[in-house]
Amino acid sequence: MDEERRAELERIKASYPAGTLLDEAQVPPYTLLDPLICADGTPVTEAATWWDKRRPEVFRLCEEQLFGRSPEPRAGMRFELRSVDRQALEGRATRKEVRIYLTDGDLPKIDLLLYIPNDVSRPPATWVGLNYLGNQSITDDPGVSLFDGWVPDMGRFGRGDMGIVDNRATERSRNTWPGSMPVEQLLARGYAVASACCGDIAPDRPDVFDHGVFTAYLKQGETPAPDEWGVLAAWAWGMCRMLDYLVTDPDIDPARVIAHGTSRLGKAAFWAGALDTRWGAISPNESGCGGAALSRRRFGETVARINTTFPHWFCEAFHAYNGNEDALPFDQHMLIALSAPRPIYIASAEDDLWSDPRGEFLGALGADPVYRLLGTEGLAVSEMPAVHGPVHSPLAYHLRAGGHGVNDWDWEQFMDWADERVG
Ligand code: GCU
Repeated sequence: MDEERRAELERIKASYPAGTLLDEAQVPPYTLLDPLICADGTPVTEAATWWDKRRPEVFRLCEEQLFGRSPEPRAGMRFELRSVDRQALEGRATRKEVRIYLTDGDLPKIDLLLYIPNDVSRPPATWVGLNYLGNQSITDDPGVSLFDGWVPDMGRFGRGDMGIVDNRATERSRNTWPGSMPVEQLLARGYAVASACCGDIAPDRPDVFDHGVFTAYLKQGETPAPDEWGVLAAWAWGMCRMLDYLVTDPDIDPARVIAHGTSRLGKAAFWAGALDTRWGAISPNESGCGGAALSRRRFGETVARINTTFPHWFCEAFHAYNGNEDALPFDQHMLIALSAPRPIYIASAEDDLWSDPRGEFLGALGADPVYRLLGTEGLAVSEMPAVHGPVHSPLAYHLRAGGHGVNDWDWEQFMDWADERVG
């Protein structure tokens, strides 16, 4: 490592809170639970035992002690096609705006934006990902409705230029966050794209339980029980309601719908994939703590740190493991295994130490035996690949140069892999 890179890494490390474990040599010894041993000690040697016995056990652990249980959708849930333009984006795509009413009333709702490429010979595969600032923020298409709900004040992040005023999206917020779901690139590669604002489902703030989907299930001032859903589970659940609509739309292929998300939205994408096996593939990028990264490593963001900074994200039961990772009855490789045997792409960035890139790789590796048991090739490597050496097996992994986020190189990899694995 040259001097310049060493200095850069030191700068990156110094930017994290004091006391953060950022040195591989200091990772404490830990024992990884075997995903293929049932709670009663029975080894899982056949796919049927995974499906009938072990997967339900693992699912329940992650449900009751990590994300929290979510309810069945309400009777009365319905879809309203609010606009269709078959010549959107200069004729390249069909644009639909669909409102998903989550009860028989007007609220809560999710406004889904869908683009379908026009020049395709069969109904395409669809990438689904939430956005932070409203559907208008991912495209310059003036026909997209402005999001009408609460969004984070970007000025607080030094991004006063993103068109958010008093926590509301203005016209200036159009196309200010295009990378999160790169509509044009995905369409050009023959994919459909669906998105909705995560804040439409549940605004990312501690008083969230009085807002969004929670209002259909909780009284004002009530909070979920310790094993019930937090915000990440609500986002995942909302993605599944988007899927409820998508599988009814004849313009896309219902068997090839991919759950994508970066960071906190990557954690939600994982849980969406686990909740609902209709997702054809899962693409969690830099999902870190509570996502792909093994909690027992305590590298970068820890369980205690995430539960303290974002107390509304996971279920309350998860807080019992603050500083007590070895007591967890699961680790994140088991969350990953809940997607098996469906293709999944776990991606990291080299300088995103907060997300623990090695822990994310080891999470993927830990899920590999389940993928293999279910008859796929699993993860094609057993050593962490070099930077920009993507591994596009069904259980895929890459490490990108640079810091936290998602960029064009990531998306090129995701699409190359999906071309091959999702068809
Ligand atoms: C914070 C948080 C992470 C999360 C990230 C993001 O850094 O600690 O857990 O993944 O935000 O969503 O960008």
